[in-house]
Amino acid sequence: MSNTLLRIAIQKSGRLQEGSLALLKESGLSISNGRDQLKTQARNFPVEVLFLRDDDIPQYVEDNVADIGIVGENVFVEKQKQNQLIKKLDFAKCRLCLAIPRSENYTGLKWFEGKNIATSYPAIVQQFLNKNNIKAGIHEISGSVEIAPGIGLADGICDIVSTGSTLLSNGLKEVETVLYSEAVMIASPQLSDEKKTILNKLLFRIESVQKAKN
Ligand code: PRP
Ligand code: ZN
Ligand code: MG
Repeated sequence: MSNTLLRIAIQKSGRLQEGSLALLKESGLSISNGRDQLKTQARNFPVEVLFLRDDDIPQYVEDNVADIGIVGENVFVEKQKQNQLIKKLDFAKCRLCLAIPRSENYTGLKWFEGKNIATSYPAIVQQFLNKNNIKAGIHEISGSVEIAPGIGLADGICDIVSTGSTLLSNGLKEVETVLYSEAVMIASPQLSDEKKTILNKLLFRIESVQKAKN
């Protein structure tokens, strides 16, 4: 018997963590929660789970440190690695939005001309601005983006909106949707045949779970 394990990277903590673990468990994998342990092996399936920062997952998958990963489509699109999107997972639905201070009078995309936008998604924002012929500055920050206008760091932001409560409590209003997103499974394009076989078994189980829910 072979001892090949398929390495799956999931988010250590945050919006995607619970749904990612739930999906694997509902697929019949017996795994512990990864509170302190950052790597755990399923007891009944040839899978190892790595708990990582979601933003790092596309790089780990591209480098073959992990074979597959569960990330937000927003992170997958932003990082533009040579990974394949193999399945949309139907949870953690959200949108990437442009938002500005509530007191501003929004006049359409032209409002952003010459302004500064704080975001953790510079590539996606730049592409959106180019497509719409808007020239604006992009200020990349890795977190707490919604605070930026309030402290004079930027005029507007582009960040993930789920319930909208973070925008609300920071005095911002959503003005444009840049991208719709949900959790997706990504894979390295270079998996061994053995790993592909494990992945196909896992995908079969995930599809059964999804069918049972719909
Ligand atoms: C997003 C975003 C906000 C929050 C919005 O972060 O950056 O902080 O969720 O959610 P709400 O509309 O329900 O208030 P995410 O969970 O994607 O985490 P990360 O950016 O830290 O990885
Ligand atoms: Zn993140
Ligand atoms: Mg965030």
